[in-house]
Amino acid sequence: MSGSAPSLPPLPPFPRTRLRRLRQYGWSRRLVAEHRLHASDLVLPLFVLEGNGQREPVPSMPGVERLSVDLLPAVAERCLALGIPALALFPVTPRERKSEGGEEAWNPDNLVCRAMRALKTRLPEIGLIGDVALDPYTTHGQDGILRDGVILNDETLTALARQAVCLAEAGCDVVAPSDMMDGRIGVVRSALDEAGFAGTLVLSYAAKYASAFYGPFRDAVGSAAALGAADKKTYQMDPANSAEAVREAALDIAEAADMLMVKPGLPYLDIIRILKDRFGMPTFAYHVSGEYAMIKAAAERGWLDGAACMDEALLALKRAGADAILTYAALEVAERLRERG
Ligand code: PBG
Repeated sequence: MSGSAPSLPPLPPFPRTRLRRLRQYGWSRRLVAEHRLHASDLVLPLFVLEGNGQREPVPSMPGVERLSVDLLPAVAERCLALGIPALALFPVTPRERKSEGGEEAWNPDNLVCRAMRALKTRLPEIGLIGDVALDPYTTHGQDGILRDGVILNDETLTALARQAVCLAEAGCDVVAPSDMMDGRIGVVRSALDEAGFAGTLVLSYAAKYASAFYGPFRDAVGSAAALGAADKKTYQMDPANSAEAVREAALDIAEAADMLMVKPGLPYLDIIRILKDRFGMPTFAYHVSGEYAMIKAAAERGWLDGAACMDEALLALKRAGADAILTYAALEVAERLRERG
């Protein structure tokens, strides 16, 4: 805990103390490593498409493809074989299914619900995480209900509760409110309990910042065009703030969140550390689309070693206190971990 760390005993000065002694050998570095990446810490986000046999690369996220529902079980099997415990599904909603109020969010036959059902029946042992927010379904691309230029908090809560129950009915194990409305965790928890889903977990995007690093994600799901020049600054957090993240997390815990998430990841390592130390909750980090794209783009130009930078970025998230990480690189990282043994 910051401030209460025991003070170090006096170190015998150089030349008796040489911190490089431990760094001399591969074996000694491995023995004293304080943090490690495991496949079991990773969650793979997937973009889901309508149709059959459909596979579309996302140009701003090299190595990432949008996939139709029939192609998901093969990816899920690969995750399980590599030890990745869970998937997070994001629908690419066709334009004609979007509306002002985002009603498609609680259609039991919507794309993400069909994907959840297909995966749960085929591979019940993989964890399924579903985003709770209206942006995939609204014509304006905002996460909540918009009236006269204002995102209505309390009206949105009713919609989110319906969406969460709809996801749980489809087999979603973890609902993850990512909308940043006030009071959403409590409302979602109550709705799940009343509908008989007391066992469905709630992963709160407790500290989700109004970040420019979500750009490639919005391209991938097609919400960028809907959003246009608008932003999400009246509900997502100001990147200038950290004390506010503590208040957000405290409220979500009081409303019975099972897990907290910080998003984005690398630019917000301080927030991960603060929340982990302060609350000791299971704390996730979302290594978001823009963070992934930066490394991939530089690697494509030969400016960075992409694999080494990706591993280092994810390890840094663990060092900061993250228990688990959502990352588009989950499969490649798990493969490297397996090769290294
Ligand atoms: C939607 C949502 C977003 C992301 C996850 N859920 C985008 C946004 O809030 O605009 C971003 C993920 C990423 O960039 O990888 N509420």
